[in-house]
Amino acid sequence: MHPTVRPRRLRTTPAMRRLTAETRLHPAELILPVFVREGIHEPQPIASMPGVVQHTIDSLKAAVNDAAEAGIGGVMLFGVPEVRDAVGSGATAPDGILNVATRAVAAEVGDALVVQTDLCLDEFTDHGHCGVVDARGRVDNDATLERYRDMALAQAEAGSQILGLSGMMDGQVAAVRDALDDQGFTDTAVLAYAAKYASSFYGPFREAVDSQLSGDRRSYQQDPANRREGLREARLDLEEGADILMVKPAMSYLDVVGDVAAFSDIPVWAYQVSGEYSMVEAAAANGWIDRDRAVLETLTSIRRAGADAVLTYWAVEVAGWLK
Ligand code: PBG
Repeated sequence: MHPTVRPRRLRTTPAMRRLTAETRLHPAELILPVFVREGIHEPQPIASMPGVVQHTIDSLKAAVNDAAEAGIGGVMLFGVPEVRDAVGSGATAPDGILNVATRAVAAEVGDALVVQTDLCLDEFTDHGHCGVVDARGRVDNDATLERYRDMALAQAEAGSQILGLSGMMDGQVAAVRDALDDQGFTDTAVLAYAAKYASSFYGPFREAVDSQLSGDRRSYQQDPANRREGLREARLDLEEGADILMVKPAMSYLDVVGDVAAFSDIPVWAYQVSGEYSMVEAAAANGWIDRDRAVLETLTSIRRAGADAVLTYWAVEVAGWLK
């Protein structure tokens, strides 16, 4: 017996495989998350994320120039303040580190790539939660929305073109959209972390932003067990006026990426988070995995699942490979 149907025919040569590939990576659909820290004079390595640093304003400017040169789609800025308080004042102060950095980056490369900012309080609060905490120690949803509205205005004012709402408060998209429109920032886009899970894969990021959190975020981030709920969160954010939907983390949530991509008529992005990055780096450092192949495989898988773009700490390096 000889098979009459032979799928291997299309795998015979590199040219044949390239021609028949269903998914391709392009630099424009890669977004680089970057950290900028207040009060330092040299970039600081992040031990839990080999190859990633906390930037000074100057090193950040150089990094975003490299990113623009590499042709990636955008950068997502995270700020690490020197001083924190209960309400995260640094997030809304015009001279807060994230807002200062946003202004600097927008002036440096604002036309060459899309400048985006993390809109969440956790880096700025002394308790490390993504919102303000009430007398009983619970994260107060609606009081937090007021802070997010102010934070959105400060970021839009500073020149951020896409606000990444990562706090998982109910109603955050509608609240921020309303604040922006009310102040005339109708062109500032909202990236809704629609489905964001309470994930162990954020571990290395805690060091990157010098997180003050004790406890966890399970009263606002989603339970990894829940797939349908991811779709519900995404649908709500779409209805509230989101411009882009995000699923986070990426690799352990490809079913959710697929679900959201199937129903959404706006772009769907995925965040390949710190733990996903550091796992591959650690395995590669031990010689257990072919680093570059693994990196491309992870990104291809996330795109194949339905993400239109990916936030990844490898964005600039991978863009270089794709050129
Ligand atoms: C919260 C935030 C987190 C990350 C991005 N934004 C941490 C968390 O939710 O606990 C994690 C990103 C990463 O792990 O790469 N503002």
